[in-house]
Amino acid sequence: MEWRGRPVWILRRTPEMLERLPASEPLLSDPASAVSSQQPEYARNATRSIEPEVLVTVALCTHLGCIPTYYPEPGSVQPGWPGGFYCPCHGSKFDLAGRVYRGSPAPTNLVIPPHRYLSATTILIGDDGKG
Ligand code: FES
Repeated sequence: MEWRGRPVWILRRTPEMLERLPASEPLLSDPASAVSSQQPEYARNATRSIEPEVLVTVALCTHLGCIPTYYPEPGSVQPGWPGGFYCPCHGSKFDLAGRVYRGSPAPTNLVIPPHRYLSATTILIGDDGKG
């Protein structure tokens, strides 16, 4: 998808992918999504989403704005990698909820745009009905 000229990913996470999220939390800069500018309040939760299985995120690294690469398979970036997004430009790593790994050049988690569900299968991005 594209929103305001920016790429947006919509990722359906499997139950197995969701089970892997807690394992990476000790390695993350902001596991609880405390930086409020990076997501609406309704996405400030463990999955950073409205529906746990559906991640909606701006696909731009919060370092210099490159598009990270999707590496969902465990071990695909490095031993112990639980799956997530890797930005090859300067090595920022994000988990499958777009949460940045500590020590990455990227300072914050990926941005979750305002959005809402119009139906079970349709998401409106850019308008969450909150004005
Ligand atoms: S732009 Fe992603 S690590 Fe630099």
